[in-house]
Amino acid sequence: MTGVTDIRAQIDALPGLDPRAPLLQVEDLHVEFRTRDGVAKAVNGAGFHLSAGETLALLGESGCGKSVTAQAVMGILDTPPAHITGGRVLYRGVDLLRLSEEDRRKVRANRIAMIFQDALSALNPVYSVGFQLAELFRKHRGLSRKDAKQRAIESLDQVRIPAARQRIDDYPHQFSGGMRQRVMIAMALALDPEVLIADEPTTALDVTVQAQIMGLLAELQHQRNMGLILITHDMGVVADVADRISVMYAGKVVEEAPVYDIYARPAHPYTEALLASIPRLDLKGQQLNVIRGLPPALTDIPNGCAFHPRCGYAREICRLEQPPAYRIAGHRESRCHFIREVLGV
Ligand SMILES: Nc1ncnc2c1ncn2[C@@H]1O[C@H](COP(=O)(O)OP(=O)(O)O)[C@@H](O)[C@H]1O
Ligand code: SF4
Ligand SMILES: [Mg+2]
Repeated sequence: MTGVTDIRAQIDALPGLDPRAPLLQVEDLHVEFRTRDGVAKAVNGAGFHLSAGETLALLGESGCGKSVTAQAVMGILDTPPAHITGGRVLYRGVDLLRLSEEDRRKVRANRIAMIFQDALSALNPVYSVGFQLAELFRKHRGLSRKDAKQRAIESLDQVRIPAARQRIDDYPHQFSGGMRQRVMIAMALALDPEVLIADEPTTALDVTVQAQIMGLLAELQHQRNMGLILITHDMGVVADVADRISVMYAGKVVEEAPVYDIYARPAHPYTEALLASIPRLDLKGQQLNVIRGLPPALTDIPNGCAFHPRCGYAREICRLEQPPAYRIAGHRESRCHFIREVLGV
């Protein structure tokens, strides 16, 4: 029989796994969707890294490949239509893209977990939340029915569901949107993952509940020293919570830097445009600077720098050559031919 501690030991015994290796490194990831309408290149060489206790925001307009990147890291893309055509996803030195499905599932449940925007469709509607939580403890930790139920109650307590013991037999639809999001967080954290990917976790909620959920996530992350990848299209959300930001455009990370540096001075025209489009309370009623034009169709990404049709700095070379990643001051990167101009140096 597969004991519980065994699952954790089995993960630790994966060839190449080194507990001292970086927590998560995504390198040159490529994902395409092959459909009847053509090949959509959803992720085109995306890369980033994450350390324990750190929050990385993955930021970009809708459709730029954030969710597909996260799903590739989790190993939950359906093939077909999705095909991972290149890159590596290294967890503690092990390339998850090369693991068997069985090993992948173990890592997924126990080391890397994910929460989604829509808790209602992520939770199973026909089982009580208590049952769904208890199943995790039974399956992965081998707990008895009684102990698993007790752990389920504790899990709901940890995400501050009031009267957890009484609510344990309720079904997902009996919880409010905010409370359902808490249930999903409880499920994701049940097995103590080292990495949590939160994909637009508060987009569907009203502003007050959004702030409560973000606060809760930050607190749980801190307590557990987890690495958190926060996916969002909303630059307003990331300032308070993220340590670093990776800005994505057309399936690539175009700028990566500590939050402070990005707000002080963006090093990429796209980041600059995103910053200019944040609603500001002091400018209430004034027209926002919306980024002109639309993101490209992923079946037809422009040559050169994919941002060139929308970029105020663009010149001839931008149409012809993809900009390489330039390192700035040793701790940030930007993919722009005219980085000096953007930085004003
Ligand atoms: N199931 C799918 N079939 C075909 N194309 C898809 C599918 N899922 C995503 N895509 C493509 O991948 C692109 C990126 O999607 P996604 O990662 O969900 O964007 P976002 O940054 O908003 O999370 C979409 O614009 C779409 O073209
Ligand atoms: S490489 Fe050219 S088009 Fe791309 S962001 Fe820089 S200036 Fe704009
Ligand atoms: Mg998405």
